[in-house]
Amino acid sequence: DKGVYPYYMLKEIDEQVIVAHTLSQHYFDDEANIQNIDASIIEAIQSSDRLYIVAAGTSYHAGLVGKRYFEQWTGIPTEVHISSEFAYDQPLLSQKPFFIFLSQSGETADSREVLDNVVKQGYPSLTIANVMNSTLTREADFALPLLAGPEIAVASTKAYTAQIIVEAILAHAVGQSGLDLKNELAKVAVEMQVIIDQKESFKDIAEQALQNRRSAFYIGRGLDAAVAVEAALKLKEISYVQTEGFAAGELKHGTISLIEENTPVLALLTQSKTAGLVRGEIAQVAARGANTIVIASKSLVKTGDAYIIPDVNELLMPLLAVIPAQLIAYYATLDRHLDVDRPRNLAKSVTVQ
Ligand code: F6R
Repeated sequence: DKGVYPYYMLKEIDEQVIVAHTLSQHYFDDEANIQNIDASIIEAIQSSDRLYIVAAGTSYHAGLVGKRYFEQWTGIPTEVHISSEFAYDQPLLSQKPFFIFLSQSGETADSREVLDNVVKQGYPSLTIANVMNSTLTREADFALPLLAGPEIAVASTKAYTAQIIVEAILAHAVGQSGLDLKNELAKVAVEMQVIIDQKESFKDIAEQALQNRRSAFYIGRGLDAAVAVEAALKLKEISYVQTEGFAAGELKHGTISLIEENTPVLALLTQSKTAGLVRGEIAQVAARGANTIVIASKSLVKTGDAYIIPDVNELLMPLLAVIPAQLIAYYATLDRHLDVDRPRNLAKSVTVQ
């Protein structure tokens, strides 16, 4: 039931705060030790020499973020694959692969096809899904829940952040994050709420930047590039504004020729190592007439930026940076008088290949 909300999507965006708490309570005990992740899962991952994250759409995008946690905290090389590609062009595998399937529904046919192949080849697998007792959770060796509650809107929001949180917790459990992750995630939840409480500011950004626009761009580097592709998918799938999300450094290799007077370019700026470079890229598109909308973390902000994201640990910034993008997509779609929850041509769960 939508309750007081006009659309499920807005309700589900708001629920990200509570989902973060729920996951923290489920996966950490009072002393911040890991619980509810079977030792056999941790051992299976530790004894593998490479992780293969396989997923579709938004879940694939959550995998792009999770890769960073697995590589940085466990030291195990991690590849992220689109299930519909992997299914028919399986890459050369390592000696001891471990497969991680990410899925909201647990029923995505492309991902099921890969899991079938993986099981036939005898490789170990884990499904991280929102719908437990789904095909993907039943047929993998292991399963972990996302605990996000039913996600009704076709555009996935809370399942994305839940996937990133569970990936972080799992990587922390397998390796050494060097973080008090329970505490860091508590801070994330607080700051998610701060952003959500300011949702009206994204209505203004959506109207100012995207009204009467047919195309837009999201750019960023590193983890912001991973969020940029998800941000672009959110905006395009419900508002029908054709949006590309990509690594900011790629602009000069082609895409910059698309920039015209007033083309909206939304830049995500939360990663200190590359912030200077992204500032340069923002200046280059601005010089060609782009309407640049910079969404920067507090420590990297400059006057003229459109929105300031509160600071949390930089590796966890995707959990915050995606929320402005979700809200911009929501308001741009409302502004167009379209059905936010049910975009044309799309089903919530894609059960055909
Ligand atoms: C986009 C969206 C889709 C799904 C994709 C995978 O907002 O929801 O891209 O993420 O179809 O679905 P699941 O996660 O159920 O496997």
